[in-house]
Parts: sequence; structure tokens; C-alpha cells
Amino acid sequence: MEGVISRIPGGKNLRDYEEACRTFSFREAAAELYGNRPGPVNIAYLAVDRQVTEKGLRDKTALFFESGDREEKYTFAQMAAYSNKFANVLKKHGIGKTDRVGIFMPRCPELYISFLGIVKRGALAVPLFEAFMEDAVFDRLRDSGAKAIITTPELRKRIPANKLPDLKHVFVVGGCGTLKKGDIQWHNEMAEASREYEVTRAGPEDPYLLLYASGAEGSPKGILHAHRGAVGIYITAKWVHDLCQDDIYWCTADPGWITGIAYGFLGPWMHGVSVVIRGGRFDAEDWFKTLSKYKVTVWYSAPTAFRMMIRGGPGLHARYPLYLRHILSVGEPLTGEVLEWSLRELGQPIYDTWWMSETGMNLICNYRCLPLKVGSIGKPFPGVRAAVIDDEGNELPPNQIGNLAIEAGWPAMFTGVWNNHEEYYNYFRHYPWFTTGDAAYYDRDGYFFFQGRVDGVINTAGERVGPNEVENRLLQHPAVTDAGVVGKPDSLRGEIVKAYIRLDESYNWTKELADDIRNFVKQGLAAHAAPREIEPRGFIPKDREGRNNRRVLREWALGLDHK
Ligand code: PRX
Repeated sequence: MEGVISRIPGGKNLRDYEEACRTFSFREAAAELYGNRPGPVNIAYLAVDRQVTEKGLRDKTALFFESGDREEKYTFAQMAAYSNKFANVLKKHGIGKTDRVGIFMPRCPELYISFLGIVKRGALAVPLFEAFMEDAVFDRLRDSGAKAIITTPELRKRIPANKLPDLKHVFVVGGCGTLKKGDIQWHNEMAEASREYEVTRAGPEDPYLLLYASGAEGSPKGILHAHRGAVGIYITAKWVHDLCQDDIYWCTADPGWITGIAYGFLGPWMHGVSVVIRGGRFDAEDWFKTLSKYKVTVWYSAPTAFRMMIRGGPGLHARYPLYLRHILSVGEPLTGEVLEWSLRELGQPIYDTWWMSETGMNLICNYRCLPLKVGSIGKPFPGVRAAVIDDEGNELPPNQIGNLAIEAGWPAMFTGVWNNHEEYYNYFRHYPWFTTGDAAYYDRDGYFFFQGRVDGVINTAGERVGPNEVENRLLQHPAVTDAGVVGKPDSLRGEIVKAYIRLDESYNWTKELADDIRNFVKQGLAAHAAPREIEPRGFIPKDREGRNNRRVLREWALGLDHK
């Protein structure tokens, strides 16, 4: 599918993009969000308490939650009170400002309550995706020096507390009677805690979130976000997601990733909007049911999920009445197949948005008030300057592929890389540009087109996988003497993780061995990081410094070496 889709009427908040670009500044958005307060306020207060104390929404449902046999809803007043309780629990256990607290749980209300409690206390939430296995959990907890973690009995098994000297408290949600010695029962503590808590004041640069993201080389990086980011999340939730108070919003991303945090709950709640959180595994029919049952009006998801819905069964959408008025996508290229499907079956286009863990907010987007160009990630958010630069930092003209860069200074820009200043400055090596690591070009109308990663970072089903992390794990397997990992194009997942290995001479290549190696990676890191394809080769290509040559690996993955 190609071409332009003309503007679809019905957007409510941003009426004139060009005018906003001329006149808008983030100072204006800050004034709208903070009112007449002198400076940034704790983002957790802005998300929940404020809806109760200032906006008259105490009894409005903040959260509709459904997973397995749990089906619950929580008002803004409940979320405010429960998160106060958890802040008091943390206080009781000596956890305070700037301490890091891990969250390692499947989606459940306790996760959101804990997150808000941590942030209200002035501590830093360290979300860990529930699919992480022991090595991945260990790396992140060790690097962050987390003092406490909140988990479930099932996931508790993957936390090697004895190897983590900084980790003093393990809070366990559920599973009464089965606690390990020294672990603390989350619900018991909550029952005893007061509902009253004075939310810790937050300065603009005070961090509230430490989120690990994979890079091409080395271990995952701890991306720091500060309370000032609220301004960027707030105004994009309004202008990009077009949220209004009577919307029902469903962002399908997991809260282990930035999307599930910024737009999963913080952004919509700052607008007093009810959110749907659906736990459990993906199931196409169940997703249609969820959209229908909760009368979701604004839906934020990802291309692989849309493709899985398309393949889940033709006509499924027709069985469930839908109430959608705005659909958005993130994380991977929005393919023509998906756009065609949404136009045909859902009667409206999907609006792509581009951003990263590091950017903290949507930065290049499609808007209701502009025509869509098929294949484009859209235009910079008003007040944001994006460019395409060469390797020396010079700006390139339209229609030339180069490094996608954003001028530093947008409100939700990350404030650091934990324990690694050098990494942080590396992003700004062409200051004032922040170098994204993505390749892109823009056309003469100012629309940007994503052209893949510049480095070797793999994007599989919208999830960011560092090839180096997978290679290191592969090398720990006794049958593997060398390994090179690369993204291979895939029609469902965008890319899959493909591993080339050099086999130890004492092993024979069999399907069983391939499965064993795949499982070994899965057990150590996470299912999404395990290679879907493993191929033995006589050598792994290297560059002059002796590092894996990712260009040649990519050629192998595309089959170019056989052509
Ligand atoms: O390569 C880009 C891709 O996802 C990367 C960021 O990944 P992460 O930090 O996990 O955040 C994901 C969602 C915020 C980017 O560097 N990406 C993000 N949005 C898009 C995208 N690729 C294509 N199209 C997009 N809309």
C-alpha cells in the first residue's frame, strides 16, 4: 500500500499542526499541567491524587483490570489511597529518596499501586519485564543496586537475592504461607499501613524511573527519567493520543517497557482517563472481546500485535461491536498490510508514532489534523526539532538517508545512563543533537521515514534485543565456541533473532542441540531474546578490532552470500 490518506475529521485536541509548530512551547504545556505551582510536581501526584483533590474525579474508574479469574476495577481515590499505603510501607522499611526498587510482576493492580507508591516516596522504580529469566534479572538488579523488589511467588524463583548484597527487602504479592525466609508479605504490610502520606516533593531533575534498554554492545543501559518528563507525556497524550476525559483507553504494552509506563497509565491518568489493563497471553479473539467489552475508544498497540490479530481469524472484528475512534501504533514499522486491514476492517487508519525508551515521550508522530503518508512515522511533535545528520553531525537535505537526530531539550528527555556517564554523552556526541541510533530520511513535506537501526540492535515484535547480550549467553553454552547474532526480516515479527554459531568440534549439529541452545538462552535471558533460528558456520565474521562484523552478519541473514 502506498500514497497519502487524506485527513480524517474527528480529532478533538490538536486542530492545526502548523499553527502549533509556530506558536507552541513546552512552557505553555508546563503551565497547563502544573497550574500556578512554582515548579514540577511529583508525577505520581499528577497522575492520581490530583484527580481526587483538584479534578473532582475521586469515584471515577482509573483502572479496569482483567486477567485469568481476576476482574477488578479501581477508582482514582483508591489508587491514590493504596499508593499512599505502599509509600508508607517503603518508609517503614527504611526505603527513601533515590533508593532503587525493582518491580518484577505480571500485570496486576498491585504492580501499578507499587509503582506509584515508589514514586511518591521519591524512590526510583526499576521495572523488570515479567519474561526475564535469572541472568537478565540479576544484571539489572546488580547494576541498579536495587534495595528492594516487589514480585510474586512464581517470579521470586528468578531473583538470586543471595548474590545481590544491596537487595535488602523482597516484597511478595500473594502466595500466603509460601514465603522464603526474610521475604515480606505485600498484602499484610498494606493492610497495616496508613492511607495518609505526604507525597515527596520532586525537583525537575529528580529521577523517578530507571528503565533498562538494550544497546548494540555491552549490557543493557539504565535509562533515567525525571519528574519533569510529566510535561511531555501529558501534552502528547492530549495531542497525539487525542485523549479526552470520556475516553476509555487501552495501551497493550507491558509496564516492563517505556510505552506501558508513559502511556499505559501515567499519561492517560494525568487526563483523568480510565485505562484498561489486560493480563495473560495474547489471543486475537480475546483482544477483540476486550476492545468491545470495555468500549475502548482509543487504542495504542504495535504492528506485530495487529498482524497477529489479522491472522487470528478473518471476520473476528465483526463479531464484537467496536467503539474505537482513534488507533495508534508504536515500536516497529507499521506495514501496509496492517494499514490496509485497519482501513478495511476497522474503518479507520492507524496512526504511527515514533519514540524510544530514551526519549520518554512520543516525538515523531502522525496527527488527526494532518494527512497520513503511508510508511511515514510522521512529523516532529510541535516544539521538537528533528533532523537527519551524517556521521560528522552535519544536517542532510530532504530525501537522503542518515542518522535520525533530535535537538536536545524536550521535556521527557532522559537525564542520564545509570553508572555510565560516558554512554550518556555518547548519545550527544553531535550536540545539540541527540543521536537516536535509527536511520531515516524526511521528504520535502517534512514527513519522516524510518529506515531501520544504524547499529545492530534487533527489534523483534517491537521488543528491543541487544545482540551482544545474546552472544554472551550463547558463548556460555559448552557447544558454542563463537557466536554472532543479527535481526533477520520476518513477515510477522518484523525481525527475528538469528544466531550464527561456531560449534565446538566435539559436538554434532542436530535439531536437539539447536533446541538445547535456544532453551539455554531463553532460560538465561528471556523467551523474546532466544534465537528463533540457529545456524552453524565455520567462522563468525570479524572487523579489524576483532568484534563481530554486523554488516556481514546482516548479509548472511538476508542470504546475500548465496546469491
Ligand atoms: O528503532 C526504533 C524502534 O524502536 C526503538 C526504540 O525501542 P524502545 O526503546 O524499546 O522503545 C519502543 C517504543 C517507544 C527505536 O529506536 N521504533 C520505535 N517506534 C517506531 C520504531 N520503528 C519503526 N516505527 C516506529 N513507529
